[in-house]
Parts: sequence; structure tokens; C-alpha cells
Amino acid sequence: MFYKELKDFPDNFLWGASTSAYQVEGAYNEDGKGLSVQDVHEAPEGITDFKVASDHYHRYKEDVALMAELGLKAYRFSIAWSRIIPDGDGEVNEKGIEFYNNLINELVKYHIEPVVTIYHFDLPLELHKKGGWANRNTIDAFVKYAKILFENYGDRVKYWLTINEQNVMINHPNAMNPGKVPSKKELYQGCHNMFVASARVTLLCHEMVEGGKIGPAPNITAIYPEKCNPADVIAADNWEAIRCWLYLDIAVHGRYNNLVWAYLNEKGYTPEIYDGDMEVIAKAKPDYLGINYYATATVAAAKNDGTDCQPRNGDQQIMIGEEGVYRAAKNDYLEITDFGWMVDSIGMRVTLRRIYDRYHLPLLITENGLGAKDELVDGKIHDQYRIDYLQRHFHQTKLALTDGVEIIGYCPWSFIDLVSTHQGYGKRYGFVYVDRDEDDLKEMKRYKKDSFYWYQQVIKENAKSI
Ligand code: BG6
Repeated sequence: MFYKELKDFPDNFLWGASTSAYQVEGAYNEDGKGLSVQDVHEAPEGITDFKVASDHYHRYKEDVALMAELGLKAYRFSIAWSRIIPDGDGEVNEKGIEFYNNLINELVKYHIEPVVTIYHFDLPLELHKKGGWANRNTIDAFVKYAKILFENYGDRVKYWLTINEQNVMINHPNAMNPGKVPSKKELYQGCHNMFVASARVTLLCHEMVEGGKIGPAPNITAIYPEKCNPADVIAADNWEAIRCWLYLDIAVHGRYNNLVWAYLNEKGYTPEIYDGDMEVIAKAKPDYLGINYYATATVAAAKNDGTDCQPRNGDQQIMIGEEGVYRAAKNDYLEITDFGWMVDSIGMRVTLRRIYDRYHLPLLITENGLGAKDELVDGKIHDQYRIDYLQRHFHQTKLALTDGVEIIGYCPWSFIDLVSTHQGYGKRYGFVYVDRDEDDLKEMKRYKKDSFYWYQQVIKENAKSI
């Protein structure tokens, strides 16, 4: 639909930026922190440095001052579970509590709204050794951990996110499972346990945090059929349900998506559901939905001849296909980044419309951004490509707003350069450049990229000219 005039972003719109603990903090074994699965993960590409990352743990004051200069209204970050409870379910580490207290106070000082992800890919290693999410005890451990966060930070943190990209952890499990990757059956048991854990934590947040809002943060994307051939449409529906709607249907409607349940049955992946699980899930209602969006995916009808699945790297945006369910297909209408990710700004509008149409809850864009090989030349980073990318996605978001979708904020990935899950510092997303490379930490000096100044202007004028 074309419009004569577009709606403005609301006055209190949360222009923000995102990071996650293990990708930005470093200090992986300092001040009592326990190990997480990420600290021992060996990426096939050989990038394993989550140990120092962007050294945000030691430089958070300088970083928050940069956020304030950028004009951020919100900062979405995650808390490292193993910093708060080193072995996942035992003693509390006071130094860990103190770090996030300081960080939150610093944000509050500059009137930046903290948006906290409780868990972003970094399960404490000790819990992983005991079976990770497939073990029901991890549910209790997560609830205990969340309770500590609500107790300590609930007076200042009002926006909470339960789990980052649960759907990526199930569909691309390599990076979250050092050692042997669990079977699909085990993964879906873990997935069910995460649903129960999120539901309990959602209820707890409502009980403990006055004015607290909480929601999930899956990676959601519209799935296109390769052609208007109805068999391709079936494949697109299959994959959209398995990849996306399963996670939001549970969170919002409190039930398993019927198509996904049929798929789980067919494949022999149905999880064991304990008495009371579905009641808790149905009772817990999110206040808003966090949405990570990078690009749409395109699929074709499955052939079911042993060739539907074509494994590539474990990258979360690269579709691999599944026998008898869908095949990955090319979309010749879209550009592609240097890292093989599609770029689809209109797809963002499509995705936002589809989500809102299904759930009618306020949406917070919790991730979206461009990973690129930025270059520091004479103290400057000319990342016009990132500006173009964000400009187009902001514009499509404005169109979605005009379509009537309720959007409360936008937190691009990422505030500052951090370790990419698969390409380390070879793939950067930040508005702020961190001067280090894979092997040489240098001084890790911060530089403002061109996109920093551009975003600063966008926030100042509340994206009037977007
Ligand atoms: C999201 C994750 O899937 O994508 C982030 O939540 C991640 O943790 C981001 O960094 C970008 O992906 P990548 O692989 O380029 O780091």
C-alpha cells in the first residue's frame, strides 16, 4: 500500500542499540565469574576469543558515555548467568551482582532505559555438563537466577527479555553445545523445558517487578515461497511455523502450533510434557515481543528424495533445508552481504505485519543490522553501507507503523563492535569501532563511525526525515 503521508515514530520511541554479555564484556574468568558454554566453544572458523571481547567489563563507563553522546533512549544488553551464579544453580557471586548494578546505575544516570536479556546463548558450563536444557533441573536453576535479577535490579529495570533466539538455539545448535551436538529429540525436549522456564519467569516478573514488562526475543523472519507453485507455499508455511510461529504461539497463545506438533510427531521429536507444564505456559502472558530481524528466507517444496537438506555452515541466517519439509532456495530479487546474508528491508515490513497480525502485541525490534568488514583509516570509519542499510530498514519500519503495527522501539545490532558468533572481529556491526583484530588486542580504543553521527541525527529528529 502507498500512503500520502507516513506516521511519525511515537515521541517516547525507544531508539536504542543492542549487545550481549559474552560478545562484548570479556573478563571471562574475572571477579568470580564461572565458565559458560561460550567460553569453551571452539568455532570451526578458529575464532574463539570471547575471553577479552571488547573489554566492556572494564570500560563500561566510557561505553555508556558514548551511548549518551549517541543519544540512545534504550540499551539492550544481556546478563551473564555465570557471572551471577558461577555454576548456574549454586552460590551467588556478589561481584557479578555489583557489576550489573554499576552498569544499570550508569545508564540511569544518563536517562537510558535498560532493556535486559536474561539469557543470551551463554548457559553456565556446569549446567551444560549436567545435560543443559534437556535436564528439567535447568528450569529451576533459570527461575532461581531470574529471581535474583528481579530482586537486585527490578527497581530500575522495567523491560525484560526472557531468552534470546531460542529458535536459533534449536535450529542451529552448534555454537551453543560444545562437544556433542544434541539430537533433534533432545533439542526439542530442551526447547520445551525453555518454554516452561520462560513462562515461570514471566509470571515471576509480574509478581516481583512493579511496572515490569517482559517478553521473549526470538529471531523472526517472513519465509517466502520460491514460486507461486502451491507446493512451494506449503513448504514456506512449514518452515515459517517450525522456525518462527512455534516460539511465539507458545509465548502468546500458550499452546503448541498445530503444524509444528504434527511435524514433531511425524519425525519422532515430541517432547515429554509434565503435569502442569501447559497450564503454566498458558497462564504466562508476555507484555510485548522482542523481535530480532536480519533477513527473510526463501524456500521451495521438499522433494523427499534424500536431498532436501544441504548442510552449510552453522550460521543462523543460512537455511539448510529438511527432508520432506522444505528446501532452501535462492531469491534473485535480493542483495546479499559479503557474509552470504540476504538484505531485505521490505521483508522487515512484511515480517512486522505478519507478527502483529497474529499476536497484536507491541513489538520491540531487539536486533537488526549489517555485519561488514569495516576499515579504520586515519581515525575514521566510513560505513556508508551500514547507513544505507539502516536507513532502508528504518523507512520500512515507518511504513509498518503506518500500516498500524504497534512498534515501541528499535535496537540495532550492535551498539559497539563485538565478537560475531561465527566471524569474530572480521565481521563488525557497531556504531562504535573497537580497534583490535583477531590476534592483536592493540589498545582497544573506541572510534565513532560515520553511522554513529548519522544515527545520532536520526534519534535527535525522531526519524522525521526517514
Ligand atoms: C543474532 C544473535 O542471531 O545475530 C547475536 O542474537 C549475533 O548474538 C547476531 O551476534 C549477528 O550474527 P553474527 O553471526 O554475525 O554474529
